[in-house]
Amino acid sequence: MKITTVILGLAVLSGWLLQADSRCLAQDKPPAKVPIILDCDIGTDIDDTFAVALALLCPELDLRGFTTVSGDTQARALMVCRMLAAAGRRDIPVAIGKAEQPPQALRGVQEQYIRQPPAFRASKPVKESGVEFIYQQLKAKPGEITLVAVGPLSNIAQLLTEHPDCKPWIKRLVIMGGSVRVGYNNKPPISPEFNIRADAKAAQIVFNAGLPLVVAPLDATTMLKLEEPGLRRIFGAGTHLNYHVQALYQLWDQKSAPILFDPVAVTLCVTERFCKMEDLHLEVDDKGFTRIGKGKPNARVASSIQSDEYLKWFIDRFVAVKEEQPEIVLKDSANIVPRKGMPNRVHVIEDYETDSEKRWWLSGKAEAVNVPPGSKRANRAVLTQDFDGQMGDQKRMYSAVIFNPVPGPPMGKNPRLSFRYFLKGTDKLKVQIYSLSKGYHRYLMLSNLPQGSWQDATVDMTVARRTDGSGGALSEGERIDDIQFYADPRAELIIDDIALYDEANADEKRLFPKRFLFTGWFDSGKQGKEWPGTFEIVPKKGHFWHGAKSVDNPALKAPWIELNLRGDRELGSKTQLFFRYRLTGADAMRVALVHGKTKKSLAVNAKSLANDRWAETVLDFPSTDSSGLGKGDRVDAIQFLLPRGAELIIDDLLLYEPER
Ligand code: RIB
Ligand code: CA
Repeated sequence: MKITTVILGLAVLSGWLLQADSRCLAQDKPPAKVPIILDCDIGTDIDDTFAVALALLCPELDLRGFTTVSGDTQARALMVCRMLAAAGRRDIPVAIGKAEQPPQALRGVQEQYIRQPPAFRASKPVKESGVEFIYQQLKAKPGEITLVAVGPLSNIAQLLTEHPDCKPWIKRLVIMGGSVRVGYNNKPPISPEFNIRADAKAAQIVFNAGLPLVVAPLDATTMLKLEEPGLRRIFGAGTHLNYHVQALYQLWDQKSAPILFDPVAVTLCVTERFCKMEDLHLEVDDKGFTRIGKGKPNARVASSIQSDEYLKWFIDRFVAVKEEQPEIVLKDSANIVPRKGMPNRVHVIEDYETDSEKRWWLSGKAEAVNVPPGSKRANRAVLTQDFDGQMGDQKRMYSAVIFNPVPGPPMGKNPRLSFRYFLKGTDKLKVQIYSLSKGYHRYLMLSNLPQGSWQDATVDMTVARRTDGSGGALSEGERIDDIQFYADPRAELIIDDIALYDEANADEKRLFPKRFLFTGWFDSGKQGKEWPGTFEIVPKKGHFWHGAKSVDNPALKAPWIELNLRGDRELGSKTQLFFRYRLTGADAMRVALVHGKTKKSLAVNAKSLANDRWAETVLDFPSTDSSGLGKGDRVDAIQFLLPRGAELIIDDLLLYEPER
């Protein structure tokens, strides 16, 4: 070896060592975090949820805030707030986009996520609008902050229009939007990309603003399908944040695999290594197409992505932390009790057959495939935290079905809860109820339950207690609210045919009904609102608490009660109506089940009724009559038609299909 070669070799080596050394020194100091504000339309497509979570999982990012865009921006902001609470990051501000917004609706039943009490315990959005919030943040740290926009560009355009002075303060704007050579489904673009089309004017302002713009179009995003195995890994990691992503994914309620459009924009703030980047001049036309135009490049564009490598990196970010939740173990276990005859009074029913009370499904979504015999629809549990914010562990997630009966009824002496359930993956079920009167929850625990088949169950709600055992039993007259069923978060739980009622009296001969159609008791709630129809609620003059009294019907020139059933109720092969009444000035009346739209009705004459004292009766409706109303048809009101001069008070009314 020549001496010069050795010297050269040494020089190269020492140069390399020097470089390596300086690299070591640089590595001693952790790389600076990238400060970002993320503007998203979480609540419609599920990729925004993944983008928010990814941002929270990237130590390379310094999250300065979130803003929301499109449609109901307040709902979207509350979603982000609850996710931040789940990630232990209530400190990050969230601002509601108040610019003129495109009219995009929330998808599936994601609104549930913010109507659940655990959401109320998250922090609230800040007072300033999204645009003002971004402006103030930029002003405070000019040149530092990267804006990331993964929805329509409405907020960003308003920011640039109202505060043009902020342009030089924006370090970069990274967006998910547009399609250059590739459209949805990896085919040539035949329609504009959603975010750009939703507010093409805003996009034109943004693309023409001369900002340092980075674009993740469909070319580098539409192929990123997060298939079942990936989803299972993320949701199986057991972390609180991942469970919240899963909760929103369940409520999104779509069959297709999520496509990770928006996470790519977040990723581009961390690394560009998965994408091929090109400097292009992009133009936005009035329809929202983004095309390569002539002129100086105005955007750094991700024109393709290494999908497999990217998906692996993405999933790894979500599974890096393990936080397995232990199985629910609670020492006391209650029993299933026998279901007795016809209840004395029925407080609450929900059979999930109609959408009438859908807004009160506080946890759970419609299930039409795995349903019990005779049912068309049940309710499948979704993930949520314990609604008990005082004694429930807020770090634990459950698969839960929760129904909020409105108005909250007062209990009888012996409150019982009957329901049907399908359970798989656990043999334990926690049944919980909120007392409006006491302001706390009581629960009971069922264990050793059969799995993988539909079961009937009845529980005695007087054995339910607070978590610390205090407070005693649910008692007569106590008003209740949310009826809650909780199982392990990894388990499958489906609930149907909920009935909360005062148990049958000892001498009751009638059987428990096959199906409940409607219960009317008037003790809480208002006439016209919770109790729609034509009548007067008379406080303390019912059989139990309040009742409904007849009023004059000027058209009929006679008194009547029309009780609206808060939506359509489907008739079975037999229909009976039970009610308690106090009738004066008559001993007979006509009672009709009617359907407002079709004007069809099914009527019976009630005769030999008691006079001026509380009594009860059961009316048997013919299975069909001349109008043709019968099995499978729907009714939406009950009319009590009285002779002139008569007065009627009704209470504890129950429309049902009897057991035969
Ligand atoms: O085209 C994809 C974009 O539209 C994403 O931002 C996604 O969330 C949808 O809204
Ligand atoms: Ca989006």
